[in-house]
Amino acid sequence: MTPPRSRSVRLGVAYYPEQWPEERWQVDARMMAEAGIRVVRMAEFSWSTLEPRRGALEFGWLDRAVSLMAENGIDVVLGTPTAAPPGWLIAEHPDILPVDREGLFPFGHRRHYCPNNPTYHQETRRIVAALAERYGADERVGAWQIDNEFGERCYCPRCEAAFREWLEERYGSLEQLNASWGTAFWSQNYASWDHIPLPAAGDVPLPEGFMRASPSPGHALDYRRFASDSFVQYQRLQIDEIRHHSNLPITHNMRSFRFKELDYQKLAQDLDFLAWDNYPLLNASEGWLEPALNCDAIRGMKDVRFWVMEQQVGPLGWETIRTPRRGQMRLHSYQMLAHGAEVVCYFRWRSARFGTEQHWYGVLDHDGRPNRRLQELSELAQELERIDGLLARTVPAAQAAVVYDYDARFALEIQPTNPVLAHVDALRAHYGALRRQGVGVDLLAPTADLSSYRLVAAPSLYVVDKTVAAALRSYVERGGLLVLGPRSGFKDRANAVPERPLPAWLDELAGLEVSDIASFLDGRAGQLEPVDGVGGADAAFCGWFEELSLKGAQPLYHYRDHDFAGSAAVAVNAVGAGRVVYIGGVTTEQTLSDLYAWLVREVELDVLSAPADVEVVRLRKPESGTELLFLLNYAREERAISIPDVFASHLDGALEAGSLVLEPYGVALLESPAGSRLRLHRV
Ligand code: GAL
Ligand code: ZN
Repeated sequence: MTPPRSRSVRLGVAYYPEQWPEERWQVDARMMAEAGIRVVRMAEFSWSTLEPRRGALEFGWLDRAVSLMAENGIDVVLGTPTAAPPGWLIAEHPDILPVDREGLFPFGHRRHYCPNNPTYHQETRRIVAALAERYGADERVGAWQIDNEFGERCYCPRCEAAFREWLEERYGSLEQLNASWGTAFWSQNYASWDHIPLPAAGDVPLPEGFMRASPSPGHALDYRRFASDSFVQYQRLQIDEIRHHSNLPITHNMRSFRFKELDYQKLAQDLDFLAWDNYPLLNASEGWLEPALNCDAIRGMKDVRFWVMEQQVGPLGWETIRTPRRGQMRLHSYQMLAHGAEVVCYFRWRSARFGTEQHWYGVLDHDGRPNRRLQELSELAQELERIDGLLARTVPAAQAAVVYDYDARFALEIQPTNPVLAHVDALRAHYGALRRQGVGVDLLAPTADLSSYRLVAAPSLYVVDKTVAAALRSYVERGGLLVLGPRSGFKDRANAVPERPLPAWLDELAGLEVSDIASFLDGRAGQLEPVDGVGGADAAFCGWFEELSLKGAQPLYHYRDHDFAGSAAVAVNAVGAGRVVYIGGVTTEQTLSDLYAWLVREVELDVLSAPADVEVVRLRKPESGTELLFLLNYAREERAISIPDVFASHLDGALEAGSLVLEPYGVALLESPAGSRLRLHRV
């Protein structure tokens, strides 16, 4: 990755002038400016205010809101309003409504459109062109956001027709399609494109008592690609329309990386800068790993800047609510900046009095008066001004990469095999094992340029092709250390099983073959025995086990019990100047962390031991070679971290005799002495 060399760090908010009386706007803009807000995002849900009736475009209010922002030195990001088409449009063309698994999705929510509806495409072009014509060259506007958090699948007849066209384009002939899907199975040969249905949602559990076999894996994977491509194309349609009138940079606010419907790697390719929405309290697990992984994944999708377009600022929820503790808002904001975000935009300026999101607190409470959160935000803005020069030219430093593949992810969602194999969980486990030792990690496609990383983990390459296998081989031959996970290469791009020993196309590289598998859905553990010098005492796999026949590789762990007792469970193979480690099962967290502690020593990565709830993020300044270190304390108590060198300290924490004490939710920013590298000790 060669990320952009400079960023202009700022704070922003989402603002909805159409939801408040106009007399108030001036107060809002002034309060924002005084608090240090430099960016607002507006208009992404404003279609029915912009165009109350067909053709009656009303830009006056938006002009006035944009002017007020400009007068207060605030840059505007305009959203195209297509996530919520107005009621009159739906009344005219009810077929715009999407069909979800329960039937027609009614008006009165949002995201109520089918991405393949030609009428909606036309209406989208019309409203986007009108906005782009008016504001595309307006100096008060800084950027565009397309739609808002693209989304779900639609099962309407138009999507069915569009799916058939998509297939025709991909396969050219029915013979090709039948061969690729292997439709001789259960007599599914297709004699006409018109006979191909949208597959039932096989990854969604049926109600009690229902039985339906899941669709053909090839059919199901193509449908998932198609459903995602529908939004990629819909986004492109909007970008093309904007480009007729405007050169401003364009983005889209992605949901979390966990969102299963969209291939974000693909969606990112058409955008000028990337953005995602961060709600740390919505994660299943509190703590720092999940938002960190999200940032590093977004950053790895394209060599452009990224923003956090929505950042949690207060209590949140729709029907029920969760509340952050004092100090967490600042901590979570610093986490985003540490991982390379340029702008952090809070959602939203003021808490809504009406509508579904009354419980989703903004900076201000419902009453609109200055409050504690505003105070915290303005203190943070002042602090950022102080360290702006320091952050501007820094980029996150990563010595390791974790690679992933959307086909593998989709295919495993269609046939999970064993829940312990879930793709994103596997990424997270390997990413976490490295990050907990203070190693910086990029998340990338396996075909990205990997040459700068000393270690690359590919924990879940369930789908593989020859191009990926060749790219990984050349990485290893040139001296890289590659870590492969269980079930690698079980499928090809057609979601068919290759006629090859497993891991298909990677077996020679790994120097082994998988000779047997065992899967237990009760998560049962199996004990492993490490060879001398590797790993800890209680090594184990859980749920998924592979028996490995070594063809040149050397064992690192053996099975201690179970049918595979004595056989290799983890093995390493020397290839060219590098090595490949194959892990034949799903490890416990401790086992993986022990294994990585060994690997990290083998390839001499810089590590730093810190308590589990302290995140270590490394940054470097490419021109000067200087290194910076963020230490973020997610604990409600003080934490001490030992720091061997003497650094300049820019934020919290008392540095004394090689130790740094961080207050609850505290954030330290340390700088290496000019021109030198951080010398950090090993775990
Ligand atoms: C995001 C969405 C926002 C708002 C927010 C809080 O997912 O983009 O419009 O709904 O969640 O619910
Ligand atoms: Zn549809």
